[in-house]
This record gives sequence, structure tokens and C-alpha cells, in this order.
Amino acid sequence: MRNDIEKILITETEIQKKIKQLGEQISKDYEGKYPVLICILKGGIVFLSDLMRSISTKVELDFMSLSSYGNSTKSSGVVKIKKDIDVDISNRDVIIIEDIVDSGLTLKYLNEYFKQHNSDSVKICTLLDKPNAHQIDIKIDYVGFEVGNDFVVGYGLDYSQKYRNLPYIGILKKEIYS
Ligand code: IMP
Ligand code: MG
Repeated sequence: MRNDIEKILITETEIQKKIKQLGEQISKDYEGKYPVLICILKGGIVFLSDLMRSISTKVELDFMSLSSYGNSTKSSGVVKIKKDIDVDISNRDVIIIEDIVDSGLTLKYLNEYFKQHNSDSVKICTLLDKPNAHQIDIKIDYVGFEVGNDFVVGYGLDYSQKYRNLPYIGILKKEIYS
């Protein structure tokens, strides 16, 4: 797998350090509360599993699966729910756990979707953000790292379902997807 990676962008150590900080911040912000962490599958699972262990308040977990990407590296802009949440989120504090925000279209959709379900609050926590790729104005509450527009893989992020198990974030060689 390493041969397919142009460059390691964020190391395992850097990721773990950042997740500790995010966990501390979330623990402070939600002190005495019981938020629902909604992990966006599949990319969010590695981040969720580390992040939740750095949060000291009680949390409930749920999962949601969406499709917008298929096997390409560009967003289709069309979001479809493949697996919905099971928890009743009315009057609950929701934190969406995402791997990466690119165009922002997925999160815009989710924000509106959760509001319709009468949640008390909805916040967004993403490991990576591509601020230069946003197509809409979107407020992200917790960001691990800002990255450029290169296509990245690892630590949950895939290209065509592969590379999710890399322990770091790397830039994929262009020849792999072009
Ligand atoms: P958005 O709707 O364009 O913000 O798309 C967000 C989703 O696209 C993320 O949850 C990822 O699944 C996927 N995505 C966007 N950029 C990348 C990337 O660089 N590597 C892997 N997946 C990506
Ligand atoms: Mg995703």
C-alpha cells in the first residue's frame, strides 16, 4: 500500500495528539450532557473510535451511511441515505462525526435533516477539512486539520474502498486514480 502513496501528509502521532485536544474541547463543551455521536460511515469509523475514548462525558453512539461519491474522486452533489440512524434524536444534542468536509454538500444535507428531527443542537466534528473546496457557506464546529485539495486516503478515508486501514493520512499518487 505504501507504494501507492505520494507523501505522508499527517502522521499517526500528529493525529493522536490532535484527537486528544478535540476530545478535551468536546468534554468541556458538553460537560454534564449526554450527546449522541453520529458517525458517518464508513470513513468516520477510525476517527470515531479514537475520538470517543478521549471524551470524558457520557455519549451515545449511532451510525449513518450516505452515498454521494461512488468510486470516483469527485462529489456527485447528490446525497442519498443508505442507512438511517436508530436513535430518537428529538431533544438531543447531536455531534456529527465526519472524516472530511470537501464540497460541504453532505453536511448541508445532514444539518437540515437533523433539524427536521427536532434535535436540540447539531454540531459538526471533522478530522479533515478542505476549506478551498467548499461550494457552500458552512460552519464547522470542530476541525482536526485543514488540508489542500489533493485527494487523501488513510485513517478511514478510502479510494474505491481501499486504503482505509492506513494508520496515517497520505496523498494518493495521481496515477492510481487517473
Ligand atoms: P462533500 O459532500 O463533498 O463534502 O463530501 C464529503 C465526503 O466525500 C467525505 O465524507 C468523503 O467520504 C469524501 N471525500 C472527499 N474528499 C475526499 C478525499 O480527499 N479522500 C477520500 N474521500 C474524500
Ligand atoms: Mg464520508
